[in-house]
Amino acid sequence: MTSKFPENFLWGGATAANQCEGAYQEGGKGMSLVDVLPTGPNGRMEALLNPNKAVETDYGFYPSHKSIDHFHHYQEDIKLFAEMGFKVYRLSISWPRIFPNGDEKIPNEAGLEFYDKVFAECKKYNIEPLVTINHFDTPLALLDKCNGWTDRVLIDYYLNFCEALFKRYKDVVKYWLTFNEINMILHLPFLGGGMDVTQASNPKQLQYQAAHHQLVASALATKLAHEINPDFQIGCMLAAGKTYPATPNPKDVFEAMKIDREGYFFVDVQSRGYYPNYAKSMFKKENINLKIEDTDEEILRKYTVDFISFSYYASKMTSADPEKMAETEGNVFPSLKNPYLKTSEWGWQTDALGMRVTMNDLYDRYQKPLFIVENGLGAKDTITEDGKIHDDYRIEYLRDNIEEMGNAIEDGVECLGYTSWGCIDLISAGTGEMAKRYGYIYVDRDNEGNGSLKRMKKDSFDWYKKVIASNGEDLA
Ligand code: BG6
Repeated sequence: MTSKFPENFLWGGATAANQCEGAYQEGGKGMSLVDVLPTGPNGRMEALLNPNKAVETDYGFYPSHKSIDHFHHYQEDIKLFAEMGFKVYRLSISWPRIFPNGDEKIPNEAGLEFYDKVFAECKKYNIEPLVTINHFDTPLALLDKCNGWTDRVLIDYYLNFCEALFKRYKDVVKYWLTFNEINMILHLPFLGGGMDVTQASNPKQLQYQAAHHQLVASALATKLAHEINPDFQIGCMLAAGKTYPATPNPKDVFEAMKIDREGYFFVDVQSRGYYPNYAKSMFKKENINLKIEDTDEEILRKYTVDFISFSYYASKMTSADPEKMAETEGNVFPSLKNPYLKTSEWGWQTDALGMRVTMNDLYDRYQKPLFIVENGLGAKDTITEDGKIHDDYRIEYLRDNIEEMGNAIEDGVECLGYTSWGCIDLISAGTGEMAKRYGYIYVDRDNEGNGSLKRMKKDSFDWYKKVIASNGEDLA
């Protein structure tokens, strides 16, 4: 049997600085957004939705401050990734580690040196780095200074950051993502845009203005990247996952289409190079007046992305009936319960075939190579009496998703690679918990910050190693 996956398929895993590095004040690092977010599902969400509260309250314990201390364990961690056979490692560079307040002109050398070492370690094992430039960590100081991405000046600060990275890592990094889950700015504006919209009379006005700034910044970063090294490959990154209608009622079908467009909107601009008509019409209806400068449209048109990356965890289901929607729980992406799907411990509806649907949808729409940069199951793990972690539930989730990814490739979708999320256990972005684990590698640390930080291989570690070695053929 031949593999469904191309020969040079990039298998690997993904992390983000803000969720794994810790060392929040070392090497001259400034404060990041996550450094003021507490743990626990309720307090965390309250703070996420209320940035002022997050900044002003002393919650006592902040999981990001130490996290899994990848800052001091990167050698050990990358060695374990290499043992699994990783071809690619997706990581993000902490913006406040390089520009502590975001607005400095000169980068912090100590911050850059840390990533020099990380990339050298990757090179040692022939692992290709895939770098997210901004993954939920706009420097906190920019919230105070100018309400984050609501201010156009952020484009300059961000490009300054990009220039420092592109020049320094010109010969080391080829694949870059401009913004993690760029559509998150509509759902969690504090994480996605380092901004507070709670006082605004029309929050959407602020959110879409900030989105415009990020879209222009992303296009200008693409331009700059290609000028510095024409071989650079620049991708956008979408929190994806198809929305199904609750019934065949055309009203529900239309509602589902509208929800999917909220995400596609970003990729439409980043990949096609212009604002889609449906968005312009929605802006009119919702009284959103974007300040767009003369050259912006040309910039967006000229500097589109090379590939489309996305995260996929679950699908969602919606209804046009507001009464029905009132039943949904407070997840970032509200969803009705789909009777055909299983639900994870955190209420996400796992849907492997949805991966194939999403891939086909994105490829049909953009005709550019895809890169799956997040996928996985957040679950509680226990160490059993034999001292092991038998995470067959995680293996089952990943097996099913990888199988459907292979089927999508057979359908004709071009796909560059796959980096499953949280290849080593790290802090959850949504809840701040350690207990919501995604990794092949267990880290001894709990929600309260106790534990030795010792790393342990789970059963999924050997399983994924086999998957990579067989180029996705052996999923047993
Ligand atoms: C994506 C983010 O939203 O999903 C990651 O890019 C995040 O940062 C991941 O960790 C999983 O979400 P959570 O809330 O389970 O950590």
